[in-house]
Order: sequence, then structure tokens, then C-alpha cells
Amino acid sequence: MTTHSLDRSTFGDPKNAGNLMPIEEAHALLNEWVPNDRLRLHMRQVAAVMKAWALEKEKSDERTALKWELAGLLHDADWEKHPDEHCRIIIEELEKRNIDAEVIRCIASHGPRYFGVEPLSKMDKMIYAIDELSGFVHAAALIRPTRYEGLEVKSVLKRLKTPSFAAQVSRDDITDALARIDVPQDELIQFIIDHQKEVS
Ligand SMILES: [Fe+2]
Repeated sequence: MTTHSLDRSTFGDPKNAGNLMPIEEAHALLNEWVPNDRLRLHMRQVAAVMKAWALEKEKSDERTALKWELAGLLHDADWEKHPDEHCRIIIEELEKRNIDAEVIRCIASHGPRYFGVEPLSKMDKMIYAIDELSGFVHAAALIRPTRYEGLEVKSVLKRLKTPSFAAQVSRDDITDALARIDVPQDELIQFIIDHQKEVS
């Protein structure tokens, strides 16, 4: 990913608090904006993990969990068609649609090193950690004949220590993201395995 700072620190309009789109609408946007099946799967996986984390770990209500899910589902929506303007295009689209500022900010903070936006809320911090680890876990599953079946945290950890495996996944970003949350790496990896294996 190239660096293209968003050069801004406020997102959305506070008066849109609570304004969310139905998840079906977000899927429709994704289908329109992202022709690549693998990339859409990545976003559906991140969305599933984000939603499950909100409900199970944060004890969020359904409405709050939808925010987490929407941020996960749309975080890379502009990546395929606008790689050089990645993040800016989807952020501006959601601002146009008057979507809740917390969702927009969460998307903007999913790569602090690239977009120059510090994750502040728990939702911001979790998307950062889940995004990179989700892709990594998926790569670790894909090389196994049984895929997610029997995939253990320890084998994911071993692959993390192998720099040539899924080399595009930044180990520095994973370390940085984990340092910002109070969640052990093993626990998060297990959670990701458990919640994204059914996503197809
Ligand atoms: Fe992503």
C-alpha cells in the first residue's frame, strides 16, 4: 500500500449520529464498487469479525454492532478502482450519504501509517488490528488442504515469524495495532479463525 495521507482529522458530521445504512445497501455498494471476488470476501470477513467482536466482546447492542459491521464491510471499498485515492473516495461517499461520523472515522483510521489518522475509539483500534490479521489468517488457511478446518493459532503464529509467508502483510503494522489494544494476540487470532471461517 502506498502512503497517501488524508490530511484531515475530522470526518463526517456529528449531527448524523445514528445514521446508518441497511447492511443490504452496503453489500450493494460493495458489489458495484468491487468487482474482485477475493477483495469482497476480505471485506465480508472483516465485517463478520468486527460485528462478532462488538456483540460478544464489547456487549454492544445490534445498532452499535451494525456500525462495526458497516465499517468492516466498506473499509476497502474504493481500493480496487481508486488505489491512489484509497480511503478518500469511500469516506467522501459516506459523508455524502450522511452516514454516522464514527463509521467514517473508523474507516479512515484503519491504516494510521498510510492515511495519517490515529485510531481513537475501540472500534477504530479494532478495525486496524482485525484488518491485517484477518487477511493473514485467511492466507494461512488457504495453503492448507483442509483450509480452516483444524487451523490452529500456533500455526498462524509460526507463519507470522516467517517473513516470506504473505510478505505483503506488514508485521510492523500488526505489532503496532496489537500494542494499541488490550487483547492478547492469541485470543484475537483465535477469534478471527472462529468467525471468518464460515464467511464465503
Ligand atoms: Fe482491508
